Amino acid sequence: MHRRKVLVTGATGFLGGAVCADLRAAGGWEVTATGRNAAKGTRLPTDRFVPADLAEPGAAAELTRGQDAVIHCAALASPWGRPAEFERANITATAALLDAAVGAGVRRFVHISTPSIYGEHVHRENLTETSPLPTRPINEYARTKLAAERLVLAARGRLEIVVLRPHALIGVDDTTLLPRLVRAAGDGKLRVIGDGRARTDLTCVENAALACRLALEADAGRVAGEAFNITNGEPTRLWDSLAQFLEAAGLPTPHGRVPFALVWAGAALTETWSRFVSGKEPVLTRYGAGVLAFSQTFDIGKARRLLDYQPTLPLAEGLARVGHSWRERRKETDRS
Ligand SMILES: NC(=O)c1ccc[n+]([C@@H]2O[C@H](COP(=O)([O-])OP(=O)(O)OC[C@H]3O[C@@H](n4cnc5c(N)ncnc54)[C@H](OP(=O)(O)O)[C@@H]3O)[C@@H](O)[C@H]2O)c1
Repeated sequence: MHRRKVLVTGATGFLGGAVCADLRAAGGWEVTATGRNAAKGTRLPTDRFVPADLAEPGAAAELTRGQDAVIHCAALASPWGRPAEFERANITATAALLDAAVGAGVRRFVHISTPSIYGEHVHRENLTETSPLPTRPINEYARTKLAAERLVLAARGRLEIVVLRPHALIGVDDTTLLPRLVRAAGDGKLRVIGDGRARTDLTCVENAALACRLALEADAGRVAGEAFNITNGEPTRLWDSLAQFLEAAGLPTPHGRVPFALVWAGAALTETWSRFVSGKEPVLTRYGAGVLAFSQTFDIGKARRLLDYQPTLPLAEGLARVGHSWRERRKETDRS
């Protein structure tokens, strides 16, 4: 049977790896995976792995040749980093990939964006794809991801563009969210920030990978040129979900509260220390403090209607699964 060809960027990362696994399980696609970490790349469940830095001239042209579609997961996805690093990974690399995809005659381009573009230090609930964006992006990550998304959307007409904005991914191989929380919770000093009533919409990475496959395969007439919010569709109290995960991981759950203003001021100080003295990422950034203190939930009706997106892994199961894997990981570290 003829299999269509898809290039998955960022395949050595959290979401890209899950996308490769999902495509392999679903079948029907010949998958070329790419990323910079060759050791990790060669262990991926794909047809081939080609190591590359997308921001290097010529790399994207080589990768896109002969591909029918691209799922672009590669990015610098972090609350902390140098502006030049965000520019390079999120804008330069995306622009190069986009140009190469047009040149190679790729049809479908699925771009992974982020709901951080809606980010503000205020409560925002039921955000739709047309909800207003803040006048100033909340950090360099959001700024460069928004610029990348706009670049990609400007190419509609030349490619079948589908933009996904998956919110707060959780999963066993998470590199972004839960490792930072575990780091903060590890010494038992984690406190609830604000009144503890912030609501969130987490997304099991398996569901986000499913959304990527649907975006890849959906009828162009329904989805081309569109952006979609993606979550598990199960808004919860953020601190309840975090406690659920920490308990399953055998880690101390937060006790006591601390006002947001105090955490914000502390985070600003540690950011200054990190920037000018330690050079290391602060335990908590102002961005992170805002994420933990303010509600951000999403309306995923558009994805349900046009992509037929129906999350399959329930949040409670996803949290228990991830918590269990952290518990096992910690046992192994204790043994060695
Ligand atoms: N994690 C979340 O909660 C979340 C939420 C919303 C949106 N997103 C979006 O989802 C996507 C995937 O995020 P993630 O959590 O999977 O991040 P991740 O685990 O940090 O993975 C990032 C991937 O991008 C690759 N990459 C970065 N710069 C590159 C470059 N110059 N050339 C080639 N590859 C490069 C990395 O390759 P190497 O590791 O091999 O260097 C890695 O494979 C990103 O677009 C992110 O903005 C993530």
